[in-house]
Amino acid sequence: MVEVGARDGLQNEAQVVPTAVKVSLIDRLASAGLTTIEAGAFVHPKRVPQMADTAEVLAGLARRPGVRYPVLVPNETGMARALAAGVEEVAVFAAASESFSKNNINCSIEESFARFAPVMAAAASNAVPVRGYVSCTLGCPYEGAIAPGRVAEVSERLADNGCYEISLGDTIGVGTPRKARAMVEAVAARVPLAQLAVHFHDTYGQALANIHACLELGIATVDSSVAGLGGCPYAPGATGNVASEDVLYLLDGLGIETGVDLAKLAAAGRFISEHLRRQPASKVALAMAANRGSDSA
Ligand code: HMG
Ligand code: MG
Repeated sequence: MVEVGARDGLQNEAQVVPTAVKVSLIDRLASAGLTTIEAGAFVHPKRVPQMADTAEVLAGLARRPGVRYPVLVPNETGMARALAAGVEEVAVFAAASESFSKNNINCSIEESFARFAPVMAAAASNAVPVRGYVSCTLGCPYEGAIAPGRVAEVSERLADNGCYEISLGDTIGVGTPRKARAMVEAVAARVPLAQLAVHFHDTYGQALANIHACLELGIATVDSSVAGLGGCPYAPGATGNVASEDVLYLLDGLGIETGVDLAKLAAAGRFISEHLRRQPASKVALAMAANRGSDSA
């Protein structure tokens, strides 16, 4: 499980979340047993104000051995800021849609790869692993349907450029299981399946069904966001990622070992939801809250 709530989740929140709350959230997620927790993004602070304090968040964290705290970097400037903050892992993010690329990172897909080149070079010389995201793998807010071949092309290029893993993002949460499978199969024809992760937003409520379909193909890395926080500021109307609590309940039910404790994870979700003054967008969290006797964490 790759936890993206403190980045993908919070980046879309209008109210500024204090640095100390972010640090506490990330630490609660680590104490629940998550070992990959996105901690923020070194993007333009005017474009995504919520991520402006990522260096302070990293400085405030008591980093635990065995836990990775990757951050997003879009270009050389972001990478320099990340290295100065002592990050040990980063993620670059590309799109399978030209219009989304332009809206999200202000450049074409081709230009985005030119911007990634110095990031990859700096990562290699500092022994920093790089994850690669592909957005709009099942649809684009501006262009509609996206051909799986396009997703495969961008994914292969990220892998060829040195990304150790490619996370396939359904940015606007429009995918359904058959389409998700077809997209993953198209990518897996060009990038080994073991290098692929799935990243579903849950706008249309299909994320768990999509994840299950992808698990059946052999996908073993799933992104999720505690309490279902989030959305993308450049994907209007898209809601948060699939909730981590719901993914964990599914994986537990399938007998898939994750090392994550559901009660502690749900407690982390309640912590941030109470701060944001809303209910968690996780059916599992709500069910557990209604039955507190079995949820004592
Ligand atoms: P740009 O305007 O093209 O950048 O923005 P530029 O290189 O032309 O530079 C313009 C100015 O920005 C300069 O400052 C740079 O120094 C500064 P000036 O000289 O004018 O004072 N600048 C920066 N400042 C801080 N950090 C940086 C940086 N880079 C340049 N890294 C940029 C390009 C990517 C920076 C901008 O468009 C941006 O920040 N976009 C926000 C992207 C973002 O964070 N989106 C959300 C995350 S992606 C996502 O959520 C999808 C995902 O979850 C997967 C999925 O669901 O599909 C990952
Ligand atoms: Mg996302």
